[in-house]
Amino acid sequence: MTNYNFIAPVYDVFKYIVFGDTLNQASNHYMHTIKESSSILIVGGGTGKILESFSASHTIDYVEPSASMINRSKQRSYQCDVQFHPCSIQEFIPSKDYDVIVLPFVLDLFNSQELEEVIRKCTQALNHHGRIHISDFYPEELLDARWKKLLLRTVIVFFRITTKHHLQIIVNITPIMQATDYKKVTSKNYFHGMVFASLWERVTH
Ligand SMILES: C[S@@+](CC[C@H](N)C(=O)[O-])C[C@H]1O[C@@H](n2cnc3c(N)ncnc32)[C@H](O)[C@@H]1O
Repeated sequence: MTNYNFIAPVYDVFKYIVFGDTLNQASNHYMHTIKESSSILIVGGGTGKILESFSASHTIDYVEPSASMINRSKQRSYQCDVQFHPCSIQEFIPSKDYDVIVLPFVLDLFNSQELEEVIRKCTQALNHHGRIHISDFYPEELLDARWKKLLLRTVIVFFRITTKHHLQIIVNITPIMQATDYKKVTSKNYFHGMVFASLWERVTH
């Protein structure tokens, strides 16, 4: 299983050297749409920088399997009410319905089958009018320049080596989201179109 403990101490520095602040900006892009007093599930929050974007009225369940990432997150200065869950999203047992689920640069770790399971699990935990925030890299087949494909491959190989990540390619989430009855409300590209921030809600029949 993927293990981010080893890379946790240098994760933010690495991210900053390669992408500047754009990955954080992408993860935060639609935060302003989250209403006061919302209950929020964050999956794979990493070192917890994202927690600094929430207000005191927000209640957060923070699912993160890396103990080192959780320790770093606890040291952040945040106002929201956070419950840390040291487990994977597959192991997590939700005890309520969430208004918002945030998936920041975590879906790129899953193959198609795992991705379908994770989205299904999130759907069960999302209230009917809830929204899913997804920020991530576009899959290689959607990138329009060789240097972008090369950079993406380098990042994947780096994480495969440092985290025992098994994945060879990033899966396109759009068909899986649509097959699970979500529609994209809006999205924004970052980093020369390699990265996206997106907002999803259920299709109402
Ligand atoms: C690429 S990092 C992204 C961290 C952070 N969201 C960010 O953007 O900086 C992926 C994170 O997902 C966590 N993770 C890995 N497998 C997971 C799983 N099955 N369920 C939940 N989180 C997972 C890792 O421990 C890591 O912190």
